[in-house]
Amino acid sequence: MGVWGLAASLSTPRPRPARPLHPPRNCAMPLGMSPTPLAPYPALRLRRLRQADWIRRLVRETVLTPADLIWSMVVHEGEGEVPVASMPGVSRLSVKDCARAAVEARRLGIPAIAIFPHIDGARKDAEGSLAADPGGVIPRAVKAMKDAAPEVGILCDVALDPFTTHGHDGLIRSGRIANDPTIERLVAQGLMQAQAGADILAPSDMMDGRIGALRGALESAGHQDVMIMSYAAKFASAFYGPYRDAIGSGKLGSGPDDNPADKKTYQMDPANTEEALREVGQDLAEGADMVMVKPGLPYLDIVRRVVETYRAPTFAFQVSGEYAMIKAAAANGWLDEDRAVLESLTAFKRAGATGVITYFAPQAARVLGA
Ligand code: PBG
Repeated sequence: MGVWGLAASLSTPRPRPARPLHPPRNCAMPLGMSPTPLAPYPALRLRRLRQADWIRRLVRETVLTPADLIWSMVVHEGEGEVPVASMPGVSRLSVKDCARAAVEARRLGIPAIAIFPHIDGARKDAEGSLAADPGGVIPRAVKAMKDAAPEVGILCDVALDPFTTHGHDGLIRSGRIANDPTIERLVAQGLMQAQAGADILAPSDMMDGRIGALRGALESAGHQDVMIMSYAAKFASAFYGPYRDAIGSGKLGSGPDDNPADKKTYQMDPANTEEALREVGQDLAEGADMVMVKPGLPYLDIVRRVVETYRAPTFAFQVSGEYAMIKAAAANGWLDEDRAVLESLTAFKRAGATGVITYFAPQAARVLGA
């Protein structure tokens, strides 16, 4: 009877599930919805819709634009640019250059910049005392960037690790990371950043209860419009390696203080996904406006589950190690850099992410034609 006969014999009408024909763009189909039954080959040849660029563009489900990107940037206290060895193409920028970069972001249509500090090791201490310094390099960079390009949103990282000799995100008491004393310091740091003009506070420390504390403090201090993007599901990852080089992070487990050699008592176990949903749920309940999953590409399943579960703005961080891997392979001629960059960023969108924090933001925006 051949395939056509087979197709006919299979074509008894079946009731169709009640659902819109196409799920909205960038919105994952909720679990439990059955897909439309497929015609068998050759009635259905899926390659028909791939035969030319125009039809591929017409049926494309996910579109990446510069508006999906947050530019991840490192500022240092000195003058000029200092290249980061493990992140070719990324330099620590002076405050002045950050302001120029903000103007460039505006020109490229990149909505926001996330700024991270490199602090001179000699000025750090075990308590991270400089974290809330209103004269520090972060508040100076924020002011300069908002003056130069007020239309560009600025995110500040709320965490102590750039300022501590031991490189931990929290204060150490008896050899352990102390949750509640750390929150007090984070709140002081966040209020200082809001005062300096930061639009979004992004706590990356993974202490319990910091979102509620920060939200309450912002409200009391009249900063009701300052947003919080919580690093809600942040994993204890090997992919942060180059970042620690970029910000000159203290070496974990070293120095005069008895301190843990890893961040596993506060950052999540990479094996967990149910716990990620609990972390995100609690941060949203405490007042986070947006949440983040970090690292990015190896954790797209978490992004998808968070989006499907909470339907809240969900960002992913394509972290330093992900950047370095693409750069290193491209430098060896092992892959096409621009294509790999766009493909990886599109994958975040396909997984349902609202946007991506990435060191590739200006390059991607240019490749996209901005
Ligand atoms: C620490 C922080 C880290 C990153 C952002 N904030 C590193 C860490 O948790 O050890 C990583 C960013 C990257 O790898 O690009 N608060």
